[in-house]
Amino acid sequence: MPYNRIKNTTVLVTGGAGFIGSNLCEDLLKYNNKVICLDNFSTGRRENIQDFLKDSNFTLIEGDIRKPEDCNKAMQGVQIVLQQAALGSVPRSLNDPATTNGVNVSGFLNVLIAARDASVKRFVYAASSSTYGDSESLPKVEDIIGMPLSPYAVTKYINELYAHVFGLNYGVKCIGLRYFNVYGRRQDPNGAYAAVIPKFTQAFMAHESPLINGTGTNSRDFTYVDNVIQMNHLAATTTNAAAIGQVFNTAVGERADLNMLCALLKECLGKYDAAIAGVPVKYGPERKGDIPHSLASITKAQNLLGYQPSHHLQQGLKEAVAWYWENLNDR
Ligand SMILES: NC(=O)c1ccc[n+]([C@@H]2O[C@H](COP(=O)([O-])OP(=O)(O)OC[C@H]3O[C@@H](n4cnc5c(N)ncnc54)[C@H](O)[C@@H]3O)[C@@H](O)[C@H]2O)c1
Repeated sequence: MPYNRIKNTTVLVTGGAGFIGSNLCEDLLKYNNKVICLDNFSTGRRENIQDFLKDSNFTLIEGDIRKPEDCNKAMQGVQIVLQQAALGSVPRSLNDPATTNGVNVSGFLNVLIAARDASVKRFVYAASSSTYGDSESLPKVEDIIGMPLSPYAVTKYINELYAHVFGLNYGVKCIGLRYFNVYGRRQDPNGAYAAVIPKFTQAFMAHESPLINGTGTNSRDFTYVDNVIQMNHLAATTTNAAAIGQVFNTAVGERADLNMLCALLKECLGKYDAAIAGVPVKYGPERKGDIPHSLASITKAQNLLGYQPSHHLQQGLKEAVAWYWENLNDR
């Protein structure tokens, strides 16, 4: 379905070399935008942006959001900010809360201050479903949150609080997008903090059993990256005054548990390698800081932004798996 997109605009994508950021950069370049990518490559990868470097509309600024001067440099001429740079992962934040805080809170604040000083038109930022914390109510509606369960969740909630007070006091037009378990092309399958879908896909491709933490009954609202791209465009271009200063669930509004997810992945991968159907999964202990279930209400995004997810889980997994099959070398 067609939707309003950012066009002919100068856009700063912080964390533009990461999974979601690089997908945003790629999409923005298709619509004649000038794209500035600010990244320090701490978790982002040069391969993610190498194709864009040939495009004269793309500028890479290698820098750190913890440095105000890097944020100011990247903000030159910028009309819209899509703030993605952060250290993701709940376990990473439990292992090293100070570094996560430095990037996700102080770094975020630096980008927000630079955006205010440059009088940008819109500041759209990656918030997180982790902000729902220990709230057990399902589906998650934006106004009902619990207490955070990890340092990462604290940082993402602080982002929302800063965005709120910058709107109130300085008139910065902020919109927060609470992403729910995003997956898709270019998401890194490697490393201790990899997300389940790329990690499990890579394991199945190597005929190795992926490790499920717990019994596999924990469920998530897995969200294909194209739905996230849509939400960024809608948030950046909306003329609905009621949407400004708000946070929106960015999800599909459906959930699958991890056992179901593995079955679907095997089905998608079976198209390429029939033997994958016989690869069993392994089960291990629950992970600290994890919530059992996550499912978003997307009603607010539908009503205020006109959002309609383009990809439900089966279609998203099909596309993601096709990309991994073509691009993962170590199979
Ligand atoms: N992937 C998800 O499921 C998910 C869910 C909720 C929220 N989010 C949020 O979405 C955003 C993007 O996540 P992602 O999954 O693409 O992760 P990612 O790790 O692939 O991307 C983050 C990018 O930020 C960059 N970065 C980190 N620290 C930086 C710093 N100090 N200065 C400049 N750049 C820095 C990294 O190098 C990387 O390119 C993050 O804010 C994350 O918290 C992601």
